[in-house]
Amino acid sequence: MRIVLGVGGGIAAYKVASLLRLFTEAGHHVTVIPTEASTRFVGTATWEALSGNPVSNSVFDDVHQVNHVRLGHEADLVVVAPATADLLAKAATGQAGDLLTNTLLMAHGPVLFAPAMHTEMWQHAATRANVETLRGRGAAVLEPATGRLTGADSGPGRLPEPQVIFDAAMALVQGQTDFQLPLAGRTVTISAGGTREPLDPVRFLGNRSSGKQGVALAVAARNAGATVRLLAAHMEVPPPAGVEVVSVETALQLREAALAAASDSDVVIMSAAVADFRPAVVSDTKIKKRDDSADPVITLVRNPDILHELVEVRNAAGDEARQRLIVGFAAETGDSHGDVLAYAEAKLQRKGCDLLVVNHVGSDKVFGQDTNSVVILARSGSEPQEASGTKAEVSEAIINRIGFELNSVSPRA
Ligand code: CTP
Repeated sequence: MRIVLGVGGGIAAYKVASLLRLFTEAGHHVTVIPTEASTRFVGTATWEALSGNPVSNSVFDDVHQVNHVRLGHEADLVVVAPATADLLAKAATGQAGDLLTNTLLMAHGPVLFAPAMHTEMWQHAATRANVETLRGRGAAVLEPATGRLTGADSGPGRLPEPQVIFDAAMALVQGQTDFQLPLAGRTVTISAGGTREPLDPVRFLGNRSSGKQGVALAVAARNAGATVRLLAAHMEVPPPAGVEVVSVETALQLREAALAAASDSDVVIMSAAVADFRPAVVSDTKIKKRDDSADPVITLVRNPDILHELVEVRNAAGDEARQRLIVGFAAETGDSHGDVLAYAEAKLQRKGCDLLVVNHVGSDKVFGQDTNSVVILARSGSEPQEASGTKAEVSEAIINRIGFELNSVSPRA
């Protein structure tokens, strides 16, 4: 496929190098057209080297090839990233001052804009009107991601992740115009990893959770367009890019972080392995072994059930909070008294969450593994849904199900 990749003059231009890579690695022929302003952020040499094609932003280069007409005509797809407020305005009003705007006017195939700008610019009536105009003419304009912007502030205006733009572009070419991401504009809080409950300054009670499932969920939610907050207990894998990370150690810290994060979240997913008990006493100094005294006995006390508390808080709150979807995880084994699903069903009712993702555990299953097999139970009583594959594939299935539930049911309490 012949793709024209227009690069606007915003700081996010550097992320477009990864997008270009995704296109070329998928075998596409890409011509990059940077605006004059964008070359202050990323120089043309970068685009030439990565695309393997000459790069120009002037209608006066190679005039004999009539580039200002030819490139738009020949393109199977035009992608503009980052689409700045200025570029959206120029495109909406049909200006033709440089090679990129000429190309947009000559484009015969689908056109995709991936905006990135400051929140106030994105929300300004002028930009809203320009976006409406472009969409009205059949162009696809992605919603920007929400999160940290160039300065210390945050809000909608971040360039969507390169993979998200790539997926949207491929969907657009296949004629899919309704590719609004399932969690666009949603805030999703995900707890991941295993809590550690200290005994003394050097020892703790922990568990074997690797955090892989929670991180895979964070990636899937981010790629589905959500603003993601990862409440990270102990994890053996690094958190993914493009998500806000809050580090916690104990169940009590996780409880505090989860209750705070839930208040402005559309979805809370409790995939962390939370210790059900903690040592009743935490010694300030290292517990010593002494020949002249008895071996220590560790008394445990119950930790609060965070998932259950999240549900109670949601149910007691006003209408808006009641839209919040709460998802729990359960590691289950069957025994002589009942099978896995019967136990899971009972847990779903006990916890009161909306969805319960059930892992069937055995000694070799789930912990630290890259593949997984789950059943998703819904409190609404719909049929159990099975999903299996890599943790990434399972996470995508879970996130898609969450998107479906968010868009179909309300309120939940
Ligand atoms: N959970 C929680 N707070 C706890 C314990 C667990 O929020 N103190 C959450 C977990 O994050 C998970 C779900 O509850 O979403 C798991 O429930 P749990 O009762 O711990 O089930 P299991 O781990 O399967 O163990 P058990 O059957 O022994 O209760």
